[in-house]
Amino acid sequence: MAYNNILVEENNGITTITINRPNKLNALNKETIEELHEAFKEEEDDEDTKVIILTGSGEKAFVAGADISEFADFNVNEGTKLAAKGQEMLFDFVENFSKPVIAAINGFALGGGLELAMACHFRVASDNAKMGLPEVSLGVIPGYGGTQRLPQLVGKGRAMEMIMTASMIDANQALNYGLVNHVVPQEELLPLCEKIANKISNNSLVAISSAIRAINANFEDGVNGFDVEIEEFGNCFGTDDFTEGTTAFLQKRKADFPGK
Ligand code: COA
Repeated sequence: MAYNNILVEENNGITTITINRPNKLNALNKETIEELHEAFKEEEDDEDTKVIILTGSGEKAFVAGADISEFADFNVNEGTKLAAKGQEMLFDFVENFSKPVIAAINGFALGGGLELAMACHFRVASDNAKMGLPEVSLGVIPGYGGTQRLPQLVGKGRAMEMIMTASMIDANQALNYGLVNHVVPQEELLPLCEKIANKISNNSLVAISSAIRAINANFEDGVNGFDVEIEEFGNCFGTDDFTEGTTAFLQKRKADFPGK
């Protein structure tokens, strides 16, 4: 499928989705959010795709936020719908995606950009990256899950300070906070993400999908994550991947997972 604002490239089981509006620092306008939704939906069904890397084009920005020019004149009703629709179409969709999604943060990740990175399963940053939720400086609050996911990742006090001050932290501070898992020079960012993605794709993707559901259950209201873990654990015993994984181990060979 042809897109106006994103690039999708598959290589050896790893699909890289690049948000491609460098002149606007890859700001998320409505069309980009819709295209990302479509692209993720396609990759969900694409058997060749095992892991997704999400990044921004250019050397300056991952995503500098939601496109401010699109919502500056919105009223209460339109603002509410903007957040609800965006969360459903993209941010919750990515968080609950059945295949691993790695955010490669290659520069500014601000507002909706940091929220998108936080919806990914984990994050790797280049050493020039800057992250923040500056919404209160615009008279609004984060609306794409930032008030919920930032405290989950960095703790309530740090999230309160970042959101209240609207200020940015650099990559090393983000590493120190646990917001990103690794920091590397920009030219090493995609190679490192690809190396991690390759390592992931040697494992059972069926089991990984189960693990994503079990881990996410920890953050769902009214859901007992331990119960979800028991159910997902049990279900693994009915998969071909489990038969192959355990048989390969006992036969002292490398598993070749059928992905079922
Ligand atoms: N929405 C819409 N356009 C944006 C944008 C956003 N969130 N972030 C950047 N842009 C646009 C700028 O308007 C500018 O467009 P123009 O050249 O047509 O005027 C272009 O991207 C380049 O940005 P610019 O501000 O000139 O770059 P800079 O290096 O001086 O500053 C930032 C970089 C990231 C500090 C600055 O762009 C910024 O503060 N962006 C908004 C961040 C934000 O508040 N995000 C949260 C939104 S809820």
